[in-house]
Amino acid sequence: MTKLVQTIDLITNFYTYEGVVRALDKVNLTIEHGTTFGLVGESGCGKSVTVRSLLRIIQAPGKVEDGEVWFFQNAQQDTEGIELLSQNEKYMQALRGDSISMIFQEPNAALNPIMSIGDQVSESFLFHRKQEMCRQISDTLYSPDCQIFLPVKKLLQPLYRLAAKNTGAWLLKFLSRVPVFKYWDRLLKREALRRSVDIIAKLGISNAEEIVKSYPHNLSGGMKQRIVIAIALACHPVLLIADEATSNLDVTIQAQILELLRELRQKEISSVLLITHDLGVVAETCDRVGVMYAGQLCEVANVKDLFGNPKHPYTQALLHSVPRLSQKGPLQSIEGSVPNLVAPPRGCRFHPRCPHCKEICRKSFPMLVEIGNHHFVACYLWTNLSRD
Ligand SMILES: Nc1ncnc2c1ncn2[C@@H]1O[C@H](COP(=O)(O)OP(=O)(O)OP(=O)(O)O)[C@@H](O)[C@H]1O
Ligand SMILES: [Mg+2]
Repeated sequence: MTKLVQTIDLITNFYTYEGVVRALDKVNLTIEHGTTFGLVGESGCGKSVTVRSLLRIIQAPGKVEDGEVWFFQNAQQDTEGIELLSQNEKYMQALRGDSISMIFQEPNAALNPIMSIGDQVSESFLFHRKQEMCRQISDTLYSPDCQIFLPVKKLLQPLYRLAAKNTGAWLLKFLSRVPVFKYWDRLLKREALRRSVDIIAKLGISNAEEIVKSYPHNLSGGMKQRIVIAIALACHPVLLIADEATSNLDVTIQAQILELLRELRQKEISSVLLITHDLGVVAETCDRVGVMYAGQLCEVANVKDLFGNPKHPYTQALLHSVPRLSQKGPLQSIEGSVPNLVAPPRGCRFHPRCPHCKEICRKSFPMLVEIGNHHFVACYLWTNLSRD
């Protein structure tokens, strides 16, 4: 397995009036090419902050304080990574969308209520796939289907060739103000809309041609979430991050969207990072799972190992607290409460609630070590190595 994204000792803080919220404390997360990785943990444990930190979209009062984020676009070469925290904002803007796309929990917040669905999906193509579309239009300009007056074609083709090489060329910006050349924009928009219809149909919406003309308020929750996925996929990402993307959908739609993500993982995208509270969803959908607690990563393993043989006391407690049909008696909960991240406990942040707490757990955080079969755990029950 080759790495796709790796965070090394990632630290993120929020500077609030109550004090410094230590939201991420040295998170070491690795996502491999060709996998669906599930990130689980209680509300407020830092799942969203982890992905926001790696995409560098943490906003004030938050700050990525320290650490490294490596991105290995090429599945064959593990060595040629790019460190994202040291890149400029222009690079990051291209990366977000082009290589890594994110879908959020609330489709209403991601869609613009006054833009048609077609315009919104097209926008994604126009922003991220313009060069590719220009190349395609230039190649097909002389095909019998293209009913444009020949002299106009002759004027347009060099323009598309130029745009296929460099969409930001000053000549293009100048020419697009000249009326006859406005045609080039129209053809591009038409191509983007055609691709939008294609991708919406691929996501299992039958009347895609009608849907592109509608507005978000015309669609159901499940459909809107599919449109958000279409916008994310328009960029052909290598990594698709779904942050609680199915949480507020009903179970049947949720199952459809998860099935869709599974199919897409096989056909269209290399890896999916699925963030969820729902352990059932993880068991059904993911290959690997990472468990977070209060800003620290405590266990990472293949899905079967994590559910069949959890090693960290927090993972064990989390799995025990899942209700089962066969269970008799009251539901088990984890004793104590989640720590306040303004003044988190020293050492392992789970130690005040841990039944196996030792003296060393109060002093330092254990290293995340491999205990076999690609199973990593950060607990002094399994290692003597301290991370600090
Ligand atoms: N803008 C902010 N200001 C202050 N603290 C913040 C801010 N955003 C996040 N945090 C803190 O960072 C911690 C991690 O938050 P995060 O949103 O990553 O949790 P989460 O695991 O995604 O939770 P949920 O499952 O509810 O989405 C929380 O304790 C929260 O208090
Ligand atoms: Mg979240």
